[in-house]
Amino acid sequence: MTTHQVSMHQLTSLLGDWRGAGSDYSSLAERIRLMVIDGRVKAGARLPSERTMAQSLGVSRTTVNSALADLRASGYVQSRQGSGSVIRIPGRTGDLPIPQAGDILDLSRATSSAVPGVHAAAERALRRLPARLTTDGYELSGLPALREALASRYTGAGVPTSADDILITSGSASAISLIARTFLAPGDRVIVETPGYPHSNDAFRSAGARLLPATVDGDHGWDTDEFTGVIERALPTLAYVMPDFHNPTSRSMSAETRAAIVDSAARHGAVIVSDETTAELDIDRGEDTVPLCAYDTRGSTVLSVGSASKTMWGGLRVGWIRASSTLIDRLVAARFSFDLGAAVLDQLVTSELLDDMGRIIEYRRDVHRRSREALESALATHLPSARLHPVDGGVAGWIQLDAPNSSPLAVAARSRGLLIGAGPWFGLGGEFERNVRVPITATPDAIARAIAILGEAHTAIAPGPPRTGAPV
Ligand SMILES: Cc1ncc(COP(=O)(O)O)c(C=O)c1O
Repeated sequence: MTTHQVSMHQLTSLLGDWRGAGSDYSSLAERIRLMVIDGRVKAGARLPSERTMAQSLGVSRTTVNSALADLRASGYVQSRQGSGSVIRIPGRTGDLPIPQAGDILDLSRATSSAVPGVHAAAERALRRLPARLTTDGYELSGLPALREALASRYTGAGVPTSADDILITSGSASAISLIARTFLAPGDRVIVETPGYPHSNDAFRSAGARLLPATVDGDHGWDTDEFTGVIERALPTLAYVMPDFHNPTSRSMSAETRAAIVDSAARHGAVIVSDETTAELDIDRGEDTVPLCAYDTRGSTVLSVGSASKTMWGGLRVGWIRASSTLIDRLVAARFSFDLGAAVLDQLVTSELLDDMGRIIEYRRDVHRRSREALESALATHLPSARLHPVDGGVAGWIQLDAPNSSPLAVAARSRGLLIGAGPWFGLGGEFERNVRVPITATPDAIARAIAILGEAHTAIAPGPPRTGAPV
């Protein structure tokens, strides 16, 4: 395990307002534990010294010492004389009392089971396999038939595209990592949305990038002036956006914002990565949008990323990048040290399913509509003080709590068997303590159970009556 120092400045910003209803030491330990669980603090991170933490957090050294002892006991910290306290990932889920493995309700991921028809598509794909077995199977750019089918979908959406403009990847996650490795050098600036998709932020950080936030408001979406202002002032190498059914807020970008950010990026030499993993998950937006790449008149500003995961099935591990053939060639060249192509059989299955996209999208629409209804009604029953920002598609509902206590709520939910994405997971530095993400990719039943648990957890962490007070 390689270690690296977390500065007190980073820790303070990640911790935010960490004090909870319980004792300071347990609140501090719980907050650090949650940051480890959701990946904001990585294994190998060396915490500042006890003295520095005590001074900066305004607590006694005994408090810090007890918090570290608690983290050590639950396996989240290893302390060695002379080398400080280092974060580690416990082999088990730590001492957080989770009822039984089978009872864990995992709503920390916005994922769902396969759309009906994947098995039949796999059988059809198998019949096409023998013709591929005479090749070596290394398809660095992807199977021609799949690239052609995807290209014609873009052309149909109004953006003329040829198979040479498409690169098949192992899911959109690997597309984003490949883009990060290909286009970024340490110290480069990347605009990311806040709240945004944490795994993409990680991919850019791993490439050594500095992340700059651009706000996506749960009700109003992007602030065009803020976004173009950051491009103009910071001259980023990349900007990463989810223009349709943004994860986690479900907002979609207006045509004006699309045109303005592509124009600004083109003028300032930035490339926009348009993550369209969730773009086809419309419930009732009531408006057709045009893909971001349609605004890219030069053809060298927008890289579109797509995926079979949210419509068809995550287990296919098929995604793609659409860009000018020059940019695709750069990505292919960078791929040799990355993964040498996506699995051929999975690509055949995906190309079979692409013929059935109309039915697949209708299926997802229907399922997500029912899950959204379950979410609305469970919130009204179990957590009426919370507000659900509008959800008209995508993978999740973004909930606003009545107080900035998303992290303690997630910790309390965890101890009741529910794993849920606390708001700060979707930020860059401890923000969004007022928010929680609930996936609408989960079944209505799972959502109802999850919100009932959140309601219980909310009551459990509510501050009790003041312990002392003036006599009345
Ligand atoms: C916005 C977004 N991008 C990328 C991904 C990764 O998807 P894939 O399974 O295609 O790697 C996800 C998955 O949740 C996502 O929501």
